[in-house]
Amino acid sequence: MAKKLKIVSVAAEVKPFSQSGGLADVARNLPRALKELGHDVIAVTPFYTQIIDAVQHKLKPVYQNVAIKIDEQHTVKVNYYKGYLKKDLPLYFVGNDQYFSKKKSIYGSTHENRRFYLFNLAALKLITLIKFPADIIHCHDWHTGLIPELLQKQFHQSHNLKNTRTIFTIHNLSFQMGMNWWEVPSDKKDFGRKALPLFTDPEIEYVNFAKRGILNADIVNTVSEQYAAEILTKDFGQDLHRILSNNQNKLFGIVNGIDEKEYNPATDPGLVKNYSAESIYFKKQNKEALQKNFKLPNKPEIPLIGMTSRLAEQKGLDLLAKILPALLAEDIQFIFMGDGDKNYVSRINKFQKKFSKKIAFSNFEPKWETGIYAGADILLLPSRFEPCGLNQLYAMRYGCIPLVHKIGGLADTVENFNSRTKKGNGFVFKKYHEHRLLMAITRALEIYQYKDVWKKLVETAMKVSCSWEIPAKKYLELYEKTLKK
Ligand code: GLC
Repeated sequence: MAKKLKIVSVAAEVKPFSQSGGLADVARNLPRALKELGHDVIAVTPFYTQIIDAVQHKLKPVYQNVAIKIDEQHTVKVNYYKGYLKKDLPLYFVGNDQYFSKKKSIYGSTHENRRFYLFNLAALKLITLIKFPADIIHCHDWHTGLIPELLQKQFHQSHNLKNTRTIFTIHNLSFQMGMNWWEVPSDKKDFGRKALPLFTDPEIEYVNFAKRGILNADIVNTVSEQYAAEILTKDFGQDLHRILSNNQNKLFGIVNGIDEKEYNPATDPGLVKNYSAESIYFKKQNKEALQKNFKLPNKPEIPLIGMTSRLAEQKGLDLLAKILPALLAEDIQFIFMGDGDKNYVSRINKFQKKFSKKIAFSNFEPKWETGIYAGADILLLPSRFEPCGLNQLYAMRYGCIPLVHKIGGLADTVENFNSRTKKGNGFVFKKYHEHRLLMAITRALEIYQYKDVWKKLVETAMKVSCSWEIPAKKYLELYEKTLKK
């Protein structure tokens, strides 16, 4: 092995402590994979006291009342706690009653930038407190986007941060700061170069953290190769495509992995019956349990389509709404699980009332996350854009066939099934249009009728390997590359 690196991973959410999306999976599993490859890793995240149960997770206080000097006029005190992501892989929590303890949700405060500004400084301060001579600080998404700049401007003389390099990973470019960037008045837009406003100055809320992360980090990457190319274009660049193009020499794409031990149908304790690629027939029992739980008629032969996603425009729900009536004319069942936009909730509820024997709808229930993959035949992911997407990877592992829009990470991980050569692990449609989605579903339903062909497809999907080992090694190459400079 090359030199053992000292790596700090910083993220706003880390599974199982706090989670709103795939970011939390990555913020847990990438550090663990790096640790397994023999590196010295620590992680840092906020301590949301209304969300994270300190007793259940056995968190221990490590430093109390530490003064964080933010600027000439402001100092804020924080408390640090410590838990673990695995043996010898500590996860430090930054606590402050005013900023991280008030709400039951991770995001959505009116001074979101200020909170995460404090968090970024507190993460850097922690490294000096525990005397961890970091080679790399890995910053995940906008919530950590000021770290590269603060490191250069305020911490470069600190003994443990003198030689530290930074990497900024974009998980979703539509999130760049606390506010929606497109709602920032044009005279308030942050060009990314000016000194940061004072901590309590309302201007702080206009600072674009993602832009500054891109400008100041030594390496920038995103969570698939395809999305790395897409964000250079006006259509997907969310107004940062020019800056990204100017920084293309330090921009990379690495597809996420999944925790294959946790997501394993052969051992998953959440399933009514475990199975593997050699015993696919046991999926039937899981289908029965799923239909029962979601109050759909128990019919093993009917194709069951699942969808589990945040209810957001990004996820392709508009396309789906247009074709649902046509789709529901077919002999199928549809299970939808997810929370989000109220508008979508009420639309899906209306469909559900009208076609109650065919559609089931519920909030996201962690208990049923893998139950859906185990019981459903097809998982829909018609996302308009998708930086990586993890659900398609989990679904394949459970022999639930992903049907996806050819975009971002979905394009990198799902190969369209060819019924002649029997190659491919899912169904892919190219143009983002409801007719194309409907055609792809029709094609999938047709192939579903050929039991042997479908079985082969399920076997192929279940054998796809997406462990974190390969992406973790790619990250190590990026780290090495920037350390050599
Ligand atoms: C974000 C992206 C998703 C990606 C995840 C983890 O949630 O929207 O595509 O899989 O981050 O990187």
